[in-house]
Amino acid sequence: MIYNNYDINNELTTEQYEWVRLFDLPGVRERITDSPCGGENSCGKCRVMVLAGECSTVTAEEKHRLSAAELEHGIRLACYCRIKGTIKLRFAQKAVPQILVHTARDNFNDFKTGRMDGGDHTQRRFGMAMDLGTTTVVGSLFNLDTGQKMQVCSRLNPQTAFGLDVMSRINYSSREGGMEALQNCILDNLDEIISEGCARSGVPSCEIEKIAITGNTVMLHILAGVNPSPLGRFPYTPAFTSAVHIAAHDLGLKVPDNAAVYMMPSASAFIGADIVAGILATDLEQETDHALLLDLGTNGEMVLFSNNRLWACSVAVGPALEGMNIECGMRAEAGAVDRVWLENETLNLHVIGGLDARGLCGSGLLETVGTLIKAGIVAANGRLLKTPQPDQTFDWSKRVTEIDKSRRFWLKPPRGQERGLFISQNDIRQLQLTKGAICAGIELLLRAAAIQARQVKAINLTGALGNYINPGILVELGILPPEWQGRIRPACNSALQGAIMALMSDDIRDQAEQISRKVTCLDLTASEEFEKLFVRSMSLG
Ligand code: FES
Repeated sequence: MIYNNYDINNELTTEQYEWVRLFDLPGVRERITDSPCGGENSCGKCRVMVLAGECSTVTAEEKHRLSAAELEHGIRLACYCRIKGTIKLRFAQKAVPQILVHTARDNFNDFKTGRMDGGDHTQRRFGMAMDLGTTTVVGSLFNLDTGQKMQVCSRLNPQTAFGLDVMSRINYSSREGGMEALQNCILDNLDEIISEGCARSGVPSCEIEKIAITGNTVMLHILAGVNPSPLGRFPYTPAFTSAVHIAAHDLGLKVPDNAAVYMMPSASAFIGADIVAGILATDLEQETDHALLLDLGTNGEMVLFSNNRLWACSVAVGPALEGMNIECGMRAEAGAVDRVWLENETLNLHVIGGLDARGLCGSGLLETVGTLIKAGIVAANGRLLKTPQPDQTFDWSKRVTEIDKSRRFWLKPPRGQERGLFISQNDIRQLQLTKGAICAGIELLLRAAAIQARQVKAINLTGALGNYINPGILVELGILPPEWQGRIRPACNSALQGAIMALMSDDIRDQAEQISRKVTCLDLTASEEFEKLFVRSMSLG
């Protein structure tokens, strides 16, 4: 039951207010489990249980988004509910998301750093490599003398309370005190990860000598305390793209008192240091054939290596692939459906953690749509069909309903007070928009390099989604060209791996600098060709 995961130990009694929006009350935003739109009234996911106090009446949007059972249990959407006087709230438990901490290689002995000064050999030396992602943060602690991995720790990026994608962070940073709030919460987060890594491996934090950090350009601007607003508007000029060297305490980190921080270089506003790190980790430039690096998240970043050149572009794919901006969407965590398939005319769902299905994560969304296309329930134009097609083997039409003019397919029909689980027509449209953007980006890279899709022999799929999905579904849905079936390989957390390599080696840091300058970034922001290809690529299958 969706209202059963509210945590009795996570309650808040507010001060007195006069009809103020719940989301804006101090301490509320940070405690809400999901707020992908960052309080912009568009995602409908910011659930809070009201235990006592006076609230505005339930809005039409809340009636649409919340089940009767949720409303009966006092659950409201924080963006739509205003309060008067003091109020007592309870928040849902924050589940641990599936975070990609693995790198394609574990042994970095060949990268271990020499002592430049030939100095004190009794002194142990450690370093931390960190991947600062928009959604998650991962830190990997290493012994710099042996190249041995000591510990890997991860967290959800606390900035997700301010919105899931980089645009919402950019917007929040321009509010009064916004920049400071974003920077402080990520510095605290890095300190927590460093402390945990040190505590779990018995390494005093004073023995951390170096920290190498990678991330997209917006994340690194915020970390450095540089306002990222110019990255959100034309001409999208970053304040810096080259590497940053700074003492940990000057950056604002409190835990590693002696460490030197190295922030990896970016190529542009849209192709960040995480992609530079990915190019290093996948040895993209060493490929003998044309090869691609593809990072799918709220943005789709792609780099094509062809004829000794690196072509790159970034397309906004929206948060659908992270399980957000879809009606029953959620992060890939316990309770999320991540696999869907038909067997003997039965629809099967795999749920992370083996729990009751609570929602669909990105891979669950892709697999649902793929399965419904195969079953003849979703047409190539994305239309959810009410009338079964003649060649359909089983009549699923009872699972298709229309509510408030929105068609839904029920993966788990509602029962009693249970909300059930569905995919809506609008969710399928979100996926089509994602597909259109990725296909158009790939096509423009191929055109820039003057090659055909069939000539690309290796596709390195990086990022969380790339490693948790069956890559075949991307080809089945037409997101990737059919010639790439069998050529797609997961590259694990290539950003973290690149940061580890940069932590260990001066040569790699030089290479990172060269790569950041070598990449030719396509500007798609005003490209008519992109728009045309985008619209042309939205059909499925
Ligand atoms: S609607 Fe409240 S955070 Fe999105």
